[in-house]
Amino acid sequence: EWKGETTVVVLGASGDLAKKKTFPALFNLFKEGHLPEDLHIIGYARTKMSDDDFHSRQIGNIKGPGDDASQSDKDAHKKKLDKFTSISSYVAGQYDEDSGFQALLKELEKVESERGVEKPNRLFYMALPPSVFTIVAEGLKKNCYSTKGANRIIIEKPFGKDTDSCREMMSALKEQWSEDETYRIDHYLGKEMVKNVLLLRFGNVWLESSFNKNFISNVQITFKEPFGTEGRGGYFDEFGIIRDVCQNHLLQTLSLLTMERPVSFSSEDVRDEKVKVLRCIPSIAREDTLLGQYVGADGKPGYLEDDTVPKGSVCPTFAALTLWINNPRWEGVPFIMKAGKALNEAKVEIRIQYKDVTAGIFDDIARNELVIRIQPSEAIYMKFNTKTPGLITRAIPTELDLTYKSRFAEAKIPEAYEALILDAFKGDHSNFVRDDELDVAWKIFTPLLHWIDGKDGEAPKPEEYPYGSRGPKQIDEFTSKYGFKRSNEG
Ligand code: BG6
Repeated sequence: EWKGETTVVVLGASGDLAKKKTFPALFNLFKEGHLPEDLHIIGYARTKMSDDDFHSRQIGNIKGPGDDASQSDKDAHKKKLDKFTSISSYVAGQYDEDSGFQALLKELEKVESERGVEKPNRLFYMALPPSVFTIVAEGLKKNCYSTKGANRIIIEKPFGKDTDSCREMMSALKEQWSEDETYRIDHYLGKEMVKNVLLLRFGNVWLESSFNKNFISNVQITFKEPFGTEGRGGYFDEFGIIRDVCQNHLLQTLSLLTMERPVSFSSEDVRDEKVKVLRCIPSIAREDTLLGQYVGADGKPGYLEDDTVPKGSVCPTFAALTLWINNPRWEGVPFIMKAGKALNEAKVEIRIQYKDVTAGIFDDIARNELVIRIQPSEAIYMKFNTKTPGLITRAIPTELDLTYKSRFAEAKIPEAYEALILDAFKGDHSNFVRDDELDVAWKIFTPLLHWIDGKDGEAPKPEEYPYGSRGPKQIDEFTSKYGFKRSNEG
């Protein structure tokens, strides 16, 4: 674990990711005393700006205490913010020129010698577009690598667009940075409820013993966002919803949900098991797929009306995909991933639907369901049947409900990026994606993606759905085809 002597360099410091996620996460960790007191942060990007401009950009998205907070809370926040900016500086430079990285090195050496650091540790956070990942990783290695201390590099998707392009990118990075030095973020692995999955499974006898094909009928992992591409259409159209969230966020969640019990909780043991279960998943079949694209409704623009989207694009903004796991535990159980933009609500959840109770004594018994709500409002609840209170014997479906807001009202749930950045400081790889995990994840999706990209002939045309709806009208038929019963809802 890095105790002190650390400098964080945020590359792409003027960009959106840095502003929205990286700096607020660093600040919160710093404020709560999780980061070394003598930390220094350097922002690096192409935009020329003064340290002052950098500071206002850096803190622009940091949430302060609300208006009704006490004066002392407000003062304490302000004090921390001032301290945070005082330990942050900025260097402007190109991504493909040694001169920029030399200027960065000079700043690194300056701030390290000011703190009397002898063995500097350097954490490079790449909040950058993928087009410059490799060149920046090379520039950093060549110019800014600490030879006396340790170095770590954090990178984030997109890691290529299919198996081959990902391999190409990874092997270029590997020439410079070892697997041990590399931290590949999938920010879903930093979410509280995703981190909870292993504990729920392997810390509860009743749960783990029913977690298999004998008891479970089908599993759905759902990602719904109520907004469209909104100006991000250029990026989105190149990738589509499957690359944007299914191949990474939802598949990572699925692997934790289905892996076997690891030998220990160490990062390598956990990731070994994740890779093992992913290797049991054949590539997704076209017939197990439903694709959609939103059209304008109620004054909201359709996908193709976004100026940044190419005319006539058939890029899916919605996908329902069924995956199968060929191992003794899960054989024959459908795992349905559903993901979409511009839907009727914001929700990410795992819904595990159990099989029917054997017929015979009660009628109309709803199925048990275990729901893990990842966001918003973290919760775990079990749908189960009980006798309607009173003088009749009739079943009523109800819930055993653990809603975090009421049960853990005082707890602060950290942002995913906070959890992950702290892990990177600790040198804990558990919640980062290993190279072989990434490779097998791409294998599951690549044939389907090539078909969708039109590489095997004409690209399939997605079904239309109105902005703000539940998705294409075929969705219910799709999920019921895999055994999902909606009788539980409502
Ligand atoms: C990102 C995707 O990886 O995840 C976005 O690129 C998506 O399109 C986002 O909106 C969702 O993250 P979260 O944390 O808001 O669920």
